[in-house]
Amino acid sequence: MDKILVTGGAGMIGSNLVKRLVKENKEVFVADNLWRGKLENLNDATGQPVIPLDTHFINHDLSVAGSCDDLAAQVDYIIHLADVVAGIDYVFNNQGSLFRQNLIINSNVITSARKAKDNLKGFIYVGTVCSFPLTRQNTLDPEPLHEEELYPAMPESAYGWSKLMGQYETELLEKETGIPTSVLMFHNVYGSPCDFGERSQVIPALIRKAVNYPNEPFEVWGSGKQGRAFIHVNDIVEALWLTLNKGWGKGVIQIGPSVCTSIKEIAEKIVHISGKDIPIVFDTTKPEGDMARCADYSKAKAALGWEPSVTLEDGLRRQYEWVKEQIEKKQ
Ligand SMILES: NC(=O)c1ccc[n+]([C@@H]2O[C@H](COP(=O)([O-])OP(=O)(O)OC[C@H]3O[C@@H](n4cnc5c(N)ncnc54)[C@H](O)[C@@H]3O)[C@@H](O)[C@H]2O)c1
Repeated sequence: MDKILVTGGAGMIGSNLVKRLVKENKEVFVADNLWRGKLENLNDATGQPVIPLDTHFINHDLSVAGSCDDLAAQVDYIIHLADVVAGIDYVFNNQGSLFRQNLIINSNVITSARKAKDNLKGFIYVGTVCSFPLTRQNTLDPEPLHEEELYPAMPESAYGWSKLMGQYETELLEKETGIPTSVLMFHNVYGSPCDFGERSQVIPALIRKAVNYPNEPFEVWGSGKQGRAFIHVNDIVEALWLTLNKGWGKGVIQIGPSVCTSIKEIAEKIVHISGKDIPIVFDTTKPEGDMARCADYSKAKAALGWEPSVTLEDGLRRQYEWVKEQIEKKQ
């Protein structure tokens, strides 16, 4: 049975991935300091953890050098997801500390992998399309992004730079040690379980505001014209699973849909799902990030056989129900 370490495994993508890997009969270890992830994210529908928490969940702060060495030495694969991830407010107001923290986390985990080169069969790193040059994301009617457009590098945010540095160091890991690596670059991922509080990303934040309306105003940050290629977490887990099975040595692969959806459209869909009569207010004093982007996912299709499968309507409806249930539980 393959042993797999998922760093950041208590987070949104990580917890969904851990559940899939367990279902596929893998022995899964999770390293997470619960900065944003939650232990309860690792529970199944009956409320039981899908891995033995006392032996297979390790509360490690991966920004501490060497904290991952022991774990890396006992597994076959590492899927590295841990990093500081948050909504636009947090990302733009904490650029220096976020850049340093992600740089250190990524470098530490990659260093642990380098030390474990005799036992590791593969290392998967996840990057972000925020690392693409801002000049390719500054029009409202974007051409789909291609993997070869990543350099010369000019990401808009420190988050994009930090993730790109981790990606570069992953390439060096393979060159130096021969450990097979794979790098996926995700577009905007949504799904549950997720953070829907102050540090959350746009979809869970808007869903929270709709559920709480009229006690919380339904404010959209920016003009609402900015667009993203939203991808459901189930499709991301499928991409990671395919990568584990046949994604080695294929270079950087972008994971996301070719459709760019404006934040205004997302807000309208959420209002529709809520069934409430909610006026949408646009706060143009708030940041909105890159203008728009979408994916040419032909490499993912050719290399992995991957295509998006969850429709935005279905995914939003599922996430709305989940956030509503969490808010009602707390009342
Ligand atoms: N969500 C997206 O839209 C998106 C898009 C592109 C790439 N990604 C990448 O996917 C990965 C997972 O993202 P996510 O959306 O699941 O975010 P998340 O915040 O839910 O998961 C990240 C996890 O890392 C953990 N973590 C943070 N700092 C840590 C530390 N010092 N030590 C140990 N654990 C730490 C957090 O507690 C959390 O559980 C990240 O690397 C992110 O950059 C996400």
